Amino acid sequence: MTTATATATAHANIALVKYWGKRDAERMLPATSSLSLTLDAFLTTTTVTLAEGGTAPGSEHTATLDGGALTGGQLAKVQRFLDLVRGLDGVEPSLAARPAHVTSLNTVPTGAGLASSASGFAALAGAAAAAYGLDLAPRDLSRLARRGSGSASRSIFGDFVVWHAGDLADPERGDLTSYAEPVPAAADLDVAMAVVVLNAGPKSIGSREAMARTVATSPYFPAWVEHTEADVAEAEAAIAAGDLERLGDLAEASAMRMHATMLAARPAVRYLAPASLEVLDAVAALRAAGTGAWATMDAGPNVKVLCARADLETVTAVLADGGRRRVLPALPGPGMVVERQARP
Ligand code: ADP
Ligand code: DP6
Ligand code: CO
Repeated sequence: MTTATATATAHANIALVKYWGKRDAERMLPATSSLSLTLDAFLTTTTVTLAEGGTAPGSEHTATLDGGALTGGQLAKVQRFLDLVRGLDGVEPSLAARPAHVTSLNTVPTGAGLASSASGFAALAGAAAAAYGLDLAPRDLSRLARRGSGSASRSIFGDFVVWHAGDLADPERGDLTSYAEPVPAAADLDVAMAVVVLNAGPKSIGSREAMARTVATSPYFPAWVEHTEADVAEAEAAIAAGDLERLGDLAEASAMRMHATMLAARPAVRYLAPASLEVLDAVAALRAAGTGAWATMDAGPNVKVLCARADLETVTAVLADGGRRRVLPALPGPGMVVERQARP
Protein backbone atom coordinates (compact mmCIF):
# COMPACT_ATOMS: atom_id res chain seq x y z
CA MET A 1 0.00 0.00 0.00
CA THR A 2 1.33 3.48 -0.87
CA THR A 3 1.86 6.16 1.74
CA ALA A 4 -0.67 8.92 1.28
CA THR A 5 0.36 12.05 3.15
CA ALA A 6 0.25 15.80 2.70
CA THR A 7 1.31 18.89 4.64
CA ALA A 8 -0.31 22.29 4.25
CA THR A 9 0.13 25.71 5.83
CA ALA A 10 -2.45 28.44 6.24
CA HIS A 11 -2.46 31.86 7.91
CA ALA A 12 -5.09 33.35 10.16
CA ASN A 13 -7.32 36.11 8.83
CA ILE A 14 -9.00 38.97 10.65
CA ALA A 15 -12.40 40.13 9.40
CA LEU A 16 -12.87 43.81 8.62
CA VAL A 17 -16.57 43.23 7.96
CA LYS A 18 -17.51 40.47 10.38
CA TYR A 19 -19.16 37.09 10.03
CA TRP A 20 -21.41 36.55 13.02
CA GLY A 21 -24.27 34.11 12.66
CA LYS A 22 -25.23 31.16 10.51
CA ARG A 23 -28.37 30.63 8.48
CA ASP A 24 -27.65 26.90 8.13
CA ALA A 25 -25.43 25.31 10.81
CA GLU A 26 -25.32 21.91 9.10
CA ARG A 27 -23.97 23.27 5.81
CA MET A 28 -22.12 26.09 7.60
CA LEU A 29 -23.80 28.80 5.57
CA PRO A 30 -23.38 32.30 7.02
CA ALA A 31 -26.18 34.80 7.60
CA THR A 32 -24.18 37.41 5.66
CA SER A 33 -21.11 37.88 3.50
CA SER A 34 -17.91 39.04 5.21
CA LEU A 35 -14.53 40.49 4.28
CA SER A 36 -11.09 39.94 5.81
CA LEU A 37 -7.36 40.48 5.70
CA THR A 38 -5.08 37.43 5.90
CA LEU A 39 -2.09 38.12 8.17
CA ASP A 40 1.50 36.91 7.95
CA ALA A 41 1.82 36.68 11.73
CA PHE A 42 -0.19 33.59 12.66
CA LEU A 43 0.24 30.22 11.04
CA THR A 44 -1.05 26.65 11.19
CA THR A 45 0.96 23.75 9.72
CA THR A 46 -0.99 20.51 9.37
CA THR A 47 0.03 17.06 8.12
CA VAL A 48 -2.55 14.42 7.22
CA THR A 49 -1.36 10.83 6.81
CA LEU A 50 -3.68 7.99 5.87
CA ALA A 51 -3.32 4.86 7.97
CA GLU A 52 -1.76 1.82 6.32
CA GLY A 53 -4.30 -0.93 6.06
CA GLY A 54 -6.48 0.80 8.61
CA THR A 55 -9.70 -0.66 7.37
CA ALA A 56 -10.36 -2.65 10.53
CA PRO A 57 -13.84 -2.02 11.87
CA GLY A 58 -13.86 0.75 14.45
CA SER A 59 -10.58 2.30 13.29
CA GLU A 60 -10.97 6.05 13.55
CA HIS A 61 -9.24 9.27 12.62
CA THR A 62 -6.83 10.56 15.27
CA ALA A 63 -5.33 14.02 15.72
CA THR A 64 -2.75 15.95 17.74
CA LEU A 65 -2.52 19.71 18.14
CA ASP A 66 0.77 21.21 19.34
CA GLY A 67 1.90 17.76 20.45
CA GLY A 68 -1.13 16.84 22.56
CA ALA A 69 -3.86 14.41 21.50
CA LEU A 70 -7.13 16.12 20.53
CA THR A 71 -10.11 14.77 22.44
CA GLY A 72 -13.80 15.49 22.94
CA GLY A 73 -15.42 18.19 20.85
CA GLN A 74 -12.16 19.34 19.27
CA LEU A 75 -11.43 15.83 17.98
CA ALA A 76 -15.05 15.32 16.91
CA LYS A 77 -14.90 18.42 14.70
CA VAL A 78 -11.74 17.16 12.99
CA GLN A 79 -13.19 13.66 12.55
CA ARG A 80 -16.42 14.97 11.04
CA PHE A 81 -14.40 17.11 8.69
CA LEU A 82 -12.21 14.20 7.57
CA ASP A 83 -15.30 12.08 6.96
CA LEU A 84 -16.67 14.85 4.79
CA VAL A 85 -13.43 14.94 2.77
CA ARG A 86 -13.25 11.18 2.22
CA GLY A 87 -16.90 11.15 1.19
CA LEU A 88 -16.35 13.68 -1.62
CA ASP A 89 -16.74 12.69 -5.27
CA GLY A 90 -13.39 11.72 -6.74
CA VAL A 91 -11.91 9.96 -3.70
CA GLU A 92 -10.99 6.38 -4.63
CA PRO A 93 -12.77 3.81 -2.47
CA SER A 94 -9.45 2.22 -1.43
CA LEU A 95 -8.32 5.57 -0.02
CA ALA A 96 -11.70 6.52 1.44
CA ALA A 97 -11.56 3.35 3.54
CA ARG A 98 -8.40 4.51 5.31
CA PRO A 99 -8.70 6.65 8.42
CA ALA A 100 -6.36 9.63 8.77
CA HIS A 101 -3.89 10.77 11.37
CA VAL A 102 -3.57 14.54 11.71
CA THR A 103 -0.69 16.41 13.33
CA SER A 104 -1.10 20.14 13.57
CA LEU A 105 0.99 23.00 14.91
CA ASN A 106 -0.44 26.45 15.62
CA THR A 107 1.78 29.49 16.03
CA VAL A 108 -1.52 31.25 16.69
CA PRO A 109 -2.91 30.88 20.24
CA THR A 110 -5.83 28.44 20.07
CA GLY A 111 -9.33 29.71 20.88
CA ALA A 112 -8.20 33.20 21.90
CA GLY A 113 -10.06 35.22 19.29
CA LEU A 114 -7.00 35.30 17.05
CA ALA A 115 -8.61 33.11 14.38
CA SER A 116 -6.99 29.71 15.04
CA SER A 117 -10.08 27.98 13.65
CA ALA A 118 -9.53 29.89 10.38
CA SER A 119 -5.89 28.92 9.85
CA GLY A 120 -6.53 25.50 11.45
CA PHE A 121 -9.32 24.35 9.16
CA ALA A 122 -7.87 25.99 6.04
CA ALA A 123 -4.65 24.02 6.58
CA LEU A 124 -6.61 20.85 7.36
CA ALA A 125 -8.73 21.28 4.21
CA GLY A 126 -5.62 21.60 2.05
CA ALA A 127 -3.75 18.71 3.64
CA ALA A 128 -6.73 16.34 3.88
CA ALA A 129 -7.89 16.96 0.29
CA ALA A 130 -4.36 16.25 -0.99
CA ALA A 131 -3.87 13.16 1.22
CA TYR A 132 -7.15 11.67 -0.04
CA GLY A 133 -6.01 12.25 -3.61
CA LEU A 134 -8.22 15.20 -4.54
CA ASP A 135 -7.10 18.10 -6.68
CA LEU A 136 -9.59 20.83 -5.82
CA ALA A 137 -9.82 24.30 -7.33
CA PRO A 138 -9.24 27.12 -4.80
CA ARG A 139 -12.95 27.93 -4.77
CA ASP A 140 -13.84 24.34 -3.85
CA LEU A 141 -11.12 24.27 -1.20
CA SER A 142 -12.70 27.40 0.24
CA ARG A 143 -16.15 25.75 0.29
CA LEU A 144 -14.59 22.71 1.95
CA ALA A 145 -12.72 24.74 4.59
CA ARG A 146 -15.99 26.55 5.34
CA ARG A 147 -17.44 23.26 6.58
CA GLY A 148 -14.74 23.09 9.28
CA SER A 149 -15.03 26.70 10.42
CA GLY A 150 -16.75 29.52 8.55
CA SER A 151 -13.82 31.91 8.81
CA ALA A 152 -11.50 29.20 7.39
CA SER A 153 -13.12 29.67 3.96
CA ARG A 154 -11.28 33.02 3.82
CA SER A 155 -7.83 31.69 4.89
CA ILE A 156 -7.53 29.74 1.63
CA PHE A 157 -6.59 33.10 0.09
CA GLY A 158 -4.07 35.83 0.96
CA ASP A 159 -4.49 39.58 1.46
CA PHE A 160 -8.03 40.99 1.21
CA VAL A 161 -10.71 38.31 0.86
CA VAL A 162 -14.50 38.33 0.55
CA TRP A 163 -16.62 35.33 1.61
CA HIS A 164 -19.94 35.35 -0.19
CA ALA A 165 -23.06 34.43 1.74
CA GLY A 166 -24.19 32.57 -1.41
CA ASP A 167 -27.68 31.83 -2.68
CA LEU A 168 -30.09 32.55 0.16
CA ALA A 169 -33.16 30.91 -1.36
CA ASP A 170 -31.98 27.34 -1.81
CA PRO A 171 -29.60 25.50 0.60
CA GLU A 172 -28.09 23.27 -2.11
CA ARG A 173 -27.26 26.25 -4.29
CA GLY A 174 -26.20 28.10 -1.16
CA ASP A 175 -23.58 25.42 -0.53
CA LEU A 176 -22.26 25.78 -4.08
CA THR A 177 -22.15 29.58 -4.04
CA SER A 178 -20.87 30.31 -0.53
CA TYR A 179 -17.10 30.51 -1.04
CA ALA A 180 -14.36 33.07 -0.56
CA GLU A 181 -12.26 34.80 -3.19
CA PRO A 182 -9.59 37.52 -3.33
CA VAL A 183 -10.65 41.17 -3.42
CA PRO A 184 -8.78 43.26 -6.00
CA ALA A 185 -6.99 46.14 -4.24
CA ALA A 186 -5.61 49.48 -5.43
CA ALA A 187 -1.86 49.16 -6.03
CA ASP A 188 -1.06 51.91 -3.52
CA LEU A 189 -3.14 50.47 -0.66
CA ASP A 190 -0.41 49.37 1.74
CA VAL A 191 -1.97 48.17 4.97
CA ALA A 192 -0.75 46.54 8.17
CA MET A 193 -2.22 45.40 11.46
CA ALA A 194 -0.96 45.78 15.02
CA VAL A 195 -2.28 42.88 17.11
CA VAL A 196 -2.63 43.73 20.78
CA VAL A 197 -2.50 40.44 22.68
CA LEU A 198 -4.17 41.09 26.02
CA ASN A 199 -4.98 37.47 26.79
CA ALA A 200 -3.78 34.51 24.72
CA GLY A 201 -5.78 32.00 26.77
CA PRO A 202 -8.89 30.26 25.43
CA LYS A 203 -12.16 32.19 25.53
CA SER A 204 -14.85 31.14 27.98
CA ILE A 205 -17.39 30.53 25.19
CA GLY A 206 -16.36 29.42 21.69
CA SER A 207 -17.37 31.40 18.60
CA ARG A 208 -19.75 28.73 17.40
CA GLU A 209 -21.89 28.57 20.52
CA ALA A 210 -21.75 32.35 21.03
CA MET A 211 -23.01 33.11 17.54
CA ALA A 212 -25.75 30.48 17.80
CA ARG A 213 -26.95 32.12 21.01
CA THR A 214 -26.86 35.53 19.35
CA VAL A 215 -28.95 34.32 16.41
CA ALA A 216 -31.45 32.67 18.74
CA THR A 217 -31.87 35.42 21.34
CA SER A 218 -30.53 38.84 20.27
CA PRO A 219 -33.26 41.22 19.11
CA TYR A 220 -30.53 43.19 17.31
CA PHE A 221 -29.51 40.27 15.11
CA PRO A 222 -31.91 41.09 12.22
CA ALA A 223 -30.55 44.65 12.12
CA TRP A 224 -27.00 43.27 12.02
CA VAL A 225 -27.87 41.09 9.03
CA GLU A 226 -29.69 43.91 7.28
CA HIS A 227 -26.67 46.24 7.31
CA THR A 228 -23.78 43.86 6.75
CA GLU A 229 -24.21 43.15 3.04
CA ALA A 230 -23.96 46.88 2.26
CA ASP A 231 -20.86 47.14 4.47
CA VAL A 232 -19.15 44.38 2.48
CA ALA A 233 -19.93 46.16 -0.80
CA GLU A 234 -18.63 49.44 0.57
CA ALA A 235 -15.46 47.80 1.92
CA GLU A 236 -14.80 46.26 -1.51
CA ALA A 237 -15.21 49.69 -3.10
CA ALA A 238 -12.87 51.27 -0.53
CA ILE A 239 -10.21 48.60 -1.16
CA ALA A 240 -10.51 49.08 -4.94
CA ALA A 241 -10.17 52.85 -4.49
CA GLY A 242 -7.28 52.57 -2.02
CA ASP A 243 -9.28 54.52 0.54
CA LEU A 244 -7.85 53.32 3.87
CA GLU A 245 -9.76 55.85 5.94
CA ARG A 246 -13.10 54.65 4.61
CA LEU A 247 -12.09 51.01 5.05
CA GLY A 248 -10.86 51.60 8.61
CA ASP A 249 -13.99 53.48 9.55
CA LEU A 250 -16.17 50.64 8.21
CA ALA A 251 -14.07 47.99 9.95
CA GLU A 252 -14.30 49.62 13.35
CA ALA A 253 -18.05 50.14 12.95
CA SER A 254 -18.59 46.51 11.89
CA ALA A 255 -16.72 45.21 14.95
CA MET A 256 -18.62 47.47 17.34
CA ARG A 257 -21.94 46.48 15.81
CA MET A 258 -21.08 42.80 16.04
CA HIS A 259 -20.27 43.18 19.73
CA ALA A 260 -23.44 45.21 20.29
CA THR A 261 -25.41 42.38 18.69
CA MET A 262 -23.94 39.76 21.01
CA LEU A 263 -24.22 41.97 24.10
CA ALA A 264 -27.96 41.94 23.44
CA ALA A 265 -28.13 38.13 23.56
CA ARG A 266 -29.47 36.31 26.63
CA PRO A 267 -27.36 35.49 28.50
CA ALA A 268 -25.20 38.30 27.07
CA VAL A 269 -22.04 37.31 25.22
CA ARG A 270 -19.31 39.71 26.28
CA TYR A 271 -15.75 39.41 25.00
CA LEU A 272 -14.92 43.07 25.64
CA ALA A 273 -12.66 43.30 28.68
CA PRO A 274 -11.64 46.45 30.59
CA ALA A 275 -8.19 46.22 28.96
CA SER A 276 -9.86 46.02 25.51
CA LEU A 277 -11.68 49.30 26.16
CA GLU A 278 -8.39 50.95 27.15
CA VAL A 279 -6.94 49.95 23.78
CA LEU A 280 -10.02 51.28 21.96
CA ASP A 281 -9.40 54.60 23.75
CA ALA A 282 -5.73 54.54 22.76
CA VAL A 283 -6.72 53.96 19.11
CA ALA A 284 -9.15 56.88 19.23
CA ALA A 285 -6.36 59.04 20.71
CA LEU A 286 -4.00 58.01 17.91
CA ARG A 287 -6.62 59.10 15.38
CA ALA A 288 -7.25 62.39 17.19
CA ALA A 289 -3.50 63.04 17.01
CA GLY A 290 -3.54 62.49 13.23
CA THR A 291 -2.43 58.86 12.81
CA GLY A 292 -4.82 56.67 10.81
CA ALA A 293 -5.61 53.69 13.08
CA TRP A 294 -8.84 51.70 13.41
CA ALA A 295 -9.68 48.94 15.87
CA THR A 296 -11.39 45.64 15.31
CA MET A 297 -12.14 42.83 17.79
CA ASP A 298 -13.29 39.23 17.43
CA ALA A 299 -14.56 36.62 19.84
CA GLY A 300 -12.02 37.42 22.55
CA PRO A 301 -10.56 40.43 24.39
CA ASN A 302 -7.67 41.05 21.97
CA VAL A 303 -7.69 44.14 19.75
CA LYS A 304 -6.36 44.32 16.19
CA VAL A 305 -5.53 47.73 14.79
CA LEU A 306 -5.60 48.43 11.06
CA CYS A 307 -3.21 51.13 9.82
CA ALA A 308 -1.01 52.10 6.89
CA ARG A 309 2.14 50.06 6.62
CA ALA A 310 4.15 53.26 7.00
CA ASP A 311 2.50 53.85 10.41
CA LEU A 312 2.91 50.31 11.74
CA GLU A 313 6.00 51.04 13.86
CA THR A 314 4.43 54.11 15.45
CA VAL A 315 1.10 52.39 16.09
CA THR A 316 2.82 49.33 17.56
CA ALA A 317 5.01 51.45 19.84
CA VAL A 318 2.18 53.69 21.05
CA LEU A 319 -0.11 50.72 21.81
CA ALA A 320 2.72 48.83 23.56
CA ASP A 321 2.85 51.78 25.97
CA GLY A 322 6.44 51.35 27.09
CA GLY A 323 6.25 47.55 27.28
CA ARG A 324 3.01 47.46 29.27
CA ARG A 325 1.23 45.62 26.44
CA ARG A 326 2.27 42.87 24.04
CA VAL A 327 1.77 44.10 20.48
CA LEU A 328 2.64 42.02 17.41
CA PRO A 329 3.14 43.87 14.12
CA ALA A 330 1.57 42.02 11.17
CA LEU A 331 1.48 42.47 7.40
CA PRO A 332 -0.83 40.94 4.81
CA GLY A 333 -0.10 37.23 4.52
CA PRO A 334 -0.40 34.48 1.88
CA GLY A 335 -3.13 31.94 1.24
CA MET A 336 -3.11 28.21 2.01
CA VAL A 337 -0.23 26.28 0.46
CA VAL A 338 0.20 22.51 0.15
CA GLU A 339 3.89 22.22 1.01
CA ARG A 340 4.49 18.50 0.52
CA GLN A 341 2.52 15.53 -0.64
CA ALA A 342 3.09 11.91 -1.49
CA ARG A 343 0.56 11.09 -4.14
CA PRO A 344 -1.37 7.89 -3.55
P1 ADP B 1 -10.48 31.17 17.46
O1 ADP B 1 -10.73 32.56 17.88
O2 ADP B 1 -9.11 30.70 17.86
O3 ADP B 1 -10.78 30.91 16.02
P2 ADP B 1 -12.76 29.39 17.90
O4 ADP B 1 -13.62 29.22 19.09
O5 ADP B 1 -13.38 29.88 16.66
O6 ADP B 1 -11.51 30.31 18.34
O7 ADP B 1 -12.07 28.04 17.50
C1 ADP B 1 -11.17 27.36 18.34
C2 ADP B 1 -11.27 25.89 17.99
O8 ADP B 1 -10.81 25.67 16.64
C3 ADP B 1 -10.40 24.99 18.83
O9 ADP B 1 -10.99 24.71 20.07
C4 ADP B 1 -10.32 23.77 17.93
O10 ADP B 1 -11.51 23.02 18.01
C5 ADP B 1 -10.26 24.38 16.54
N1 ADP B 1 -8.86 24.49 16.07
C6 ADP B 1 -8.00 25.50 16.26
N2 ADP B 1 -6.82 25.24 15.66
C7 ADP B 1 -6.93 24.02 15.09
C8 ADP B 1 -6.05 23.19 14.33
N3 ADP B 1 -4.81 23.59 14.03
N4 ADP B 1 -6.50 21.99 13.91
C9 ADP B 1 -7.77 21.58 14.19
N5 ADP B 1 -8.65 22.33 14.91
C10 ADP B 1 -8.23 23.52 15.35
C1 DP6 C 1 -15.77 36.95 15.42
O1 DP6 C 1 -15.32 31.01 11.99
O2 DP6 C 1 -14.60 30.91 14.40
O3 DP6 C 1 -13.98 35.91 14.26
O4 DP6 C 1 -17.85 29.10 11.77
O5 DP6 C 1 -18.57 28.43 14.05
O6 DP6 C 1 -16.24 27.91 13.28
P1 DP6 C 1 -17.43 28.86 13.19
O7 DP6 C 1 -16.93 30.26 13.78
P2 DP6 C 1 -15.67 31.16 13.42
O8 DP6 C 1 -16.27 32.61 13.68
C2 DP6 C 1 -15.49 33.75 13.49
C3 DP6 C 1 -16.19 34.93 14.07
C4 DP6 C 1 -15.35 36.19 14.16
C5 DP6 C 1 -15.63 37.10 12.97
C6 DP6 C 1 -15.01 36.70 11.65
O9 DP6 C 1 -13.96 36.06 11.62
O10 DP6 C 1 -15.61 37.05 10.61
CO1 CO D 1 -12.66 30.94 15.05
